[in-house]
Amino acid sequence: GLPARVRIHEVGARDGLQNEKATVPTAVKAEFVRRLAGTGLTTIEATSFVHPKWVPQLADAEDLYPEISGLPVSLPVLVPNERGLDRALALGARRVAVFASATESFAKANLNRTVDEALAMFEPVVTRAKGEDVHVRGYLSMCFGDPWEGPVPIPQVVRVCRALLDMGCDELSLGDTIGVATPGHVTALLTALTGAGVPVSALGVHFHDTYGQALANTLAALQQGVTTVDASAGGLGGCPYAKSATGNLATEDLVWMLRGLGIDTGVDLGRLVATSVWMAAHLGRPSPSRTVRALSHQ
Ligand code: HMG
Ligand code: MG
Repeated sequence: GLPARVRIHEVGARDGLQNEKATVPTAVKAEFVRRLAGTGLTTIEATSFVHPKWVPQLADAEDLYPEISGLPVSLPVLVPNERGLDRALALGARRVAVFASATESFAKANLNRTVDEALAMFEPVVTRAKGEDVHVRGYLSMCFGDPWEGPVPIPQVVRVCRALLDMGCDELSLGDTIGVATPGHVTALLTALTGAGVPVSALGVHFHDTYGQALANTLAALQQGVTTVDASAGGLGGCPYAKSATGNLATEDLVWMLRGLGIDTGVDLGRLVATSVWMAAHLGRPSPSRTVRALSHQ
């Protein structure tokens, strides 16, 4: 069966914007997050405390976070290492996310580390965060396919998932970073993970829509009991360190499907579409989301 309710983890302000070439002013980002919070979304990933040279678009994290920290929503932020955690905690962040890779190629490209060196880098981050009662999400990228290595073997993914959970992560997000997954692969991975003792309640899914499979993949995950789904308003996004990564599953497309299935998200679709149309005007190009296009005149 399908769940009665799904929690959407909105990543538009982080995953959505991190790859934008032109610098988006901090005030526009803050207004974007405020508008997203006004749609009923409860978890809005805000920014990343990474090295500013690696992701210049998010170099304003120190200026942005205080602008939005008073909003009555959860505002997780990405932290790759202790330096990132220090920066996030100094601003009062209560939710952080580390981001691992299932493949060596992407660990090197994204974190300048091997898979195991990256896990070793996260260990003190997770331990310190949990010591301060801060919620920790563990992203795992390249769970299905990798641009350099091709299809990713399921046992390789299971191993890193286990390592992140054993470290103390509260939840995991399974990333299809380049959008190559198909529903049968999603079912196989989730079956392997639950078979390895990973509780499905700890799992979220993070689909990019490169091949138009993100909604189908989401439905496959819901059928396996997943209730946390990542999406980005308007379908913004892409990862600067993974060639061929396009935008995430659009939050509007997700809400449209879930609404049709009678699954509650608490999100006002009209307000969300209006927010994405507003953001598209700032970015100077229309949203790629089919639902945004259908429900607006952009
Ligand atoms: P590195 O070059 O190996 O860094 O990069 P290092 O540890 O050797 O440190 C070098 C210098 O950087 C030091 O300064 C540090 O202090 C400084 P120096 O002593 O030379 O003056 N530094 C920092 N400064 C500010 N904030 C920090 C920080 N850390 C070090 N946090 C590093 C290693 C991890 C820092 C780098 O690789 C990095 O920042 N990577 C981030 C890449 C990224 O953000 N990618 C996008 C997010 S992941 C994604 O999009 C996928 C996801 O959506 C899921 C999916 O779709 O699959 C989550
Ligand atoms: Mg992503």
